[in-house]
Amino acid sequence: MSFPIERVRRDFPLLARKVNGQPLVYLDSAASAQKPQRVIDRELGFYRHGYAAVHRGIHTLSAEATQQMEAVRLQVAQFINAASAEEIVFVKGTTEGINLIANSFGRHLLVPGDSIIITEMEHHANIVPWQMLALERGIQLRIWPLQQDGTLDLAQLPGLIDSSTKLLAITQVSNVLGTVNSLSDIIPVAKAAGLKVLVDGAQAVMHQRIDVQELGCDFYVFSGHKLYGPSGIGILYGRLPLLEQMPPWEGGGAMIQHVSLTDGTTFAAPPWRFEAGSPNTAGIMGLGAAIDYVNTLGLDAIQDYEQSLMQYALEVLPQVPTLKIYGPVKRSGVIAFNLGAHHAYDVGSFLDQYGIAIRTGHHCAMPLMSFYKVPSMCRASLALYNTHEEVDRLATGLQRIHTLLG
Ligand SMILES: Cc1ncc(COP(=O)(O)O)c(C=O)c1O
Repeated sequence: MSFPIERVRRDFPLLARKVNGQPLVYLDSAASAQKPQRVIDRELGFYRHGYAAVHRGIHTLSAEATQQMEAVRLQVAQFINAASAEEIVFVKGTTEGINLIANSFGRHLLVPGDSIIITEMEHHANIVPWQMLALERGIQLRIWPLQQDGTLDLAQLPGLIDSSTKLLAITQVSNVLGTVNSLSDIIPVAKAAGLKVLVDGAQAVMHQRIDVQELGCDFYVFSGHKLYGPSGIGILYGRLPLLEQMPPWEGGGAMIQHVSLTDGTTFAAPPWRFEAGSPNTAGIMGLGAAIDYVNTLGLDAIQDYEQSLMQYALEVLPQVPTLKIYGPVKRSGVIAFNLGAHHAYDVGSFLDQYGIAIRTGHHCAMPLMSFYKVPSMCRASLALYNTHEEVDRLATGLQRIHTLLG
């Protein structure tokens, strides 16, 4: 069955907008995706008909909201095939998820002299928390270097590991290059050496089916807003035995068992131990609706459609003179490029005049920019609502810029 692209586009009201007098071509979903009506309705409906504080109330509205929030937790667990809902922690997003791991697992279960491996292609969210931890705790950060084609060389991993190494923190898909790291080869090597593995799934969950048990990772993090859900909500998956060993990061309401001014505080079990304060309940409801949405279309069908779009883009875009594409041929979601010697901001500004939204800059991956010796790149991302015609409009826009600017 062919992908119902026309219907899908109608599900996203914002896509009908014009920008600078032209029909919008939205190619910035890797930064943040647009929302289907179902997600908007779910959040609005919650505020209109079901809103109340969760966890603390005995009244009907509070009990209903709590029950719905916990139902989404179970839904997320099923979405990524976690062993149970207790392994799902609601956080603000990928960034907060990684910071939670650094501040709980990192600060309390690692000791000075331990080492952590990250890769040269990581987003700042998977670099800076580890640098901060390394500085504070005397932990060593080891970098798995990138190869010129934008992939990692698996043969280099064992050389980075010794008895001090405790964690590999790695992205599943590069937010700049679209490289899909071969986790089915990488994780077994790390696990065999006794490492814990954290996977940054921010650029993966919207493009392919995720099975955390099959992956064999210890932690998996992603953001709702890139999965067609609301902003300000994300997921940290952690294997339950590991979460049980981890102390809380933030203290406050909802994460305690008992508080005494004389005897101190005992903490709730995971995942609630890691959810201090009032959660983003409307965001959680919206995330549930977003997962429903992608499940209805089917991630396999989404992946097939997006891959056909990607193949087409990789045929069409190289025909633009002076366009340089970064990263491997086999990729997911994004295409990073530069046009001649023009700064990415100039290219992005011109495209915006044609109604085409792309990302420009360092993409929160400055080490990767340094590796390619460029200050910035343009990045077009392809989502389930993009079309072959939009790829053509991007190519035509770039061609016009090349003709204008040389
Ligand atoms: C690979 C990767 N990791 C982490 C993040 C951070 O996500 P958030 O800003 O939603 O926390 C992003 C966002 O672009 C990303 O692409």
